[in-house]
Amino acid sequence: MITQQIPHATTISALRTRVRSWREDRLSVGFVPTMGALHDGHVSLVRLAKAQCDRVVASVFVNPKQFAPGEDLDAYPRTLIDDAEKLTDAKCDLIYLPTPEAMYPDGYSAGVTLKGPALGLESAIRPHFFDGVATVVTKLFNQVRPDMAFFGEKDYQQLLVIRQLVKDLDFPINVLAGETGRDRDGLALSSRNAYLDSDQRSRAGQLNLILKAFAAALSGGASTSDATATALAAASDAFDAVDYVEARCAATLAELGDGPIDRPVRVLAAVRLGSTRLIDNMAANPPA
Ligand code: PAF
Repeated sequence: MITQQIPHATTISALRTRVRSWREDRLSVGFVPTMGALHDGHVSLVRLAKAQCDRVVASVFVNPKQFAPGEDLDAYPRTLIDDAEKLTDAKCDLIYLPTPEAMYPDGYSAGVTLKGPALGLESAIRPHFFDGVATVVTKLFNQVRPDMAFFGEKDYQQLLVIRQLVKDLDFPINVLAGETGRDRDGLALSSRNAYLDSDQRSRAGQLNLILKAFAAALSGGASTSDATATALAAASDAFDAVDYVEARCAATLAELGDGPIDRPVRVLAAVRLGSTRLIDNMAANPPA
């Protein structure tokens, strides 16, 4: 448990009481949803939220609905004391810690499903994932009722799914993106990097290099099919398995034709080192 000195709420009513008092003082509210095991990427999202809003709520909730049976729900790192320290240092005003029983009580039956940007890529490998994310984020948005919500670009498909959710369900929330935080070798920061052993960790930085080369080839006028084939071959050499390496429309994640790109594009990849999945993405723009 975290101490009483750190402002936190474990129930919806305690959360709402605090947020209501801010609203009465006409203060704006930013929200950073997380599953804990916080790293510098999360901390920079909280700092971004603090720069944009008067008060910031961060939630820590490992959402069972976005894990399929056999995935790492039980093994997912839970580091609440450390998370609370990081959030306090980043001047987060309230940590929201809902319990699984409060989020999904016996008899819980609602779910949120999206198509559009949720189709393909992550969904092809983890078909349950975006329904679980959209469901919990809808509930968290209804509970916190923020003015702004902050998501990392590292989970680019998730970011577009959340933007679509906000648009389709008329949430009066402005969604802002934070840049991907990276280690020195370019590896995108992720709570799951903690699963990598030292050999895997030394290989993991290759993903950044492969995506950089992929984006540079597209921006330099290479055909999408050639650049994709080269990136896929490099990823297959570097990693134990490749789930996908693709270039998609940056705005919608629609598939592209074979030729050179003619609009802003995102190159996206998911690969495996042992049983650890790494995902990352990068922007590519057509030649000027
Ligand atoms: O990105 C995450 O950590 C999770 O998918 C989120 C948005 C907190 C929902 O559980």
